[in-house]
Amino acid sequence: MHSTTLFGLAASIAGTQALYQGFNYGATQSDGSTAMTYDDYQSRFSKAQNLPGTSGFTSARLYTMIQSGTTDTPSSAFQAAIDTQTSLLLGIWCSAGQEVVTNELNAFKSAIEQYGEDFTSLIAGISVGSEDLYRVSPTGIENDSGYGSTPNELVSYIKQTRQAIEGTALSSTTIGHVDTWTAFQNGSNAAVIEAIDWLGMDTYPYFQTTVENSIENANQTFWDAYDITAQSGNGKPIWITETGWPVSGKTSGQAVASTENAEIYWQEIACALLGNYNTWWYTLEDSIPTTPNPSFGIIGSDLDSEPLYDLKCKKQPPKPSAGPKRPHAPYTGGAANGTLPHGTASATGGVTHSATGSSIASETGASATGGIWAGSGSGSESGSGAASSSSGAAAPAATGAAARVESAVCAGILAIVGLVAAL
Ligand SMILES: *[C@@H]1O[C@H](CO)[C@@H](O)[C@H](O)[C@H]1NC(C)=O
Ligand SMILES: *[C@@H]1O[C@H](CO)[C@@H](O)[C@H](O)[C@H]1NC(C)=O
Ligand SMILES: *[C@@H]1O[C@H](CO)[C@@H](O)[C@H](O)[C@H]1NC(C)=O
Ligand SMILES: *[C@@H]1O[C@H](CO)[C@@H](O)[C@H](O)[C@H]1NC(C)=O
Repeated sequence: MHSTTLFGLAASIAGTQALYQGFNYGATQSDGSTAMTYDDYQSRFSKAQNLPGTSGFTSARLYTMIQSGTTDTPSSAFQAAIDTQTSLLLGIWCSAGQEVVTNELNAFKSAIEQYGEDFTSLIAGISVGSEDLYRVSPTGIENDSGYGSTPNELVSYIKQTRQAIEGTALSSTTIGHVDTWTAFQNGSNAAVIEAIDWLGMDTYPYFQTTVENSIENANQTFWDAYDITAQSGNGKPIWITETGWPVSGKTSGQAVASTENAEIYWQEIACALLGNYNTWWYTLEDSIPTTPNPSFGIIGSDLDSEPLYDLKCKKQPPKPSAGPKRPHAPYTGGAANGTLPHGTASATGGVTHSATGSSIASETGASATGGIWAGSGSGSESGSGAASSSSGAAAPAATGAAARVESAVCAGILAIVGLVAAL
């Protein structure tokens, strides 16, 4: 579907015309330790393309280019993407320091060399980092024990990535950064926004316990986050890199995890996004071999099963206007504490979302106290990331690899610091 010409065109206009729809794929299975293999990727990419009720999900967002368990071997997702003609939003894991970033770029260069145009023609864009700024925010630090990236580090990694694609077939590929909308809202991170071509937004109303976050308000909460991100982005395109509603798991504030609510969120949000925005949904599958709490997978623990709910869009929801696609919400900024009546002012101190695999599974339910909106912790991701940063030493391969594992669940954490409602 993405011919080289189309790709070149798409790249030059920063994704405003080639609209991607896909899912997020971790480097490990949901236990946070079993590496995803070629077969695992291939079967999931094929499943995504043939989901009943949909036009097919033909794109994959990866958190890392490195095959789990190796130092800098290219991900086996690449061959699977080539074989299934799945486009790729590539990711460079940036929360574990320079050495891992260097390994990422080495894996990237190897892949370009090894696969050539078969690979380069599939690239939708490159995300330098994933929620690294969230992790250095106060709540992120508290929850994830001191790894992540500062804005300056990210700007450096972005430069390195631009240098890495210079003179290659990917020289006009757009580069973005994925983070929580609250990270984009934080003015201290402006240098990152300046350095990128598009903003990848992760947003989970389910985790936003500092606002009235029942499913009834989820649509509004999502678009509020979008507006704030768009406002922070100075006209740069917004790509929806993660969102979703859990099919099972603990209640988060007023948000009840259920297939019924996941279906409502799909109808309201996915059906409004798909075909209108570049979207990588969270997620196709997060329950093999273990089901995390909460679980966001559209497919349960059997890849051959039907989706857990009907994915056919029932009605064409009104299209948000062109973009940044909606008029920005009036933003009053500032911080009020506690839950706000939706649509008026601002709340402070929340944190959402979390990330990955094993810890999500074992995670005991983050408390939402005092405006802290703690999602689940990230298993392999935070574990090893913390390990590598606290050891301070050059991360050995095992640690490095684990650090980038952001496995199944990047049901990100959002730090809501100054949520505004205002529509
Ligand atoms: C804002 O961003 C800076 C730089 O990333 C970070 O140090 C700070 O903790 C963030 N503030 C909040 C409230 O998240
Ligand atoms: C995140 O930090 C908050 C605030 O200290 C805490 O209440 C919550 O339990 C932490 N969540 C995790 C998953 O560690
Ligand atoms: C969701 O919110 C958007 C923006 O406010 C609005 O245009 C749309 O109609 C809403 N959709 C539903 C299903 O309420
Ligand atoms: C929010 O609560 C904190 C801690 O209690 C306080 O310092 C701050 O002033 C409060 N902010 C607002 C806007 O009330």
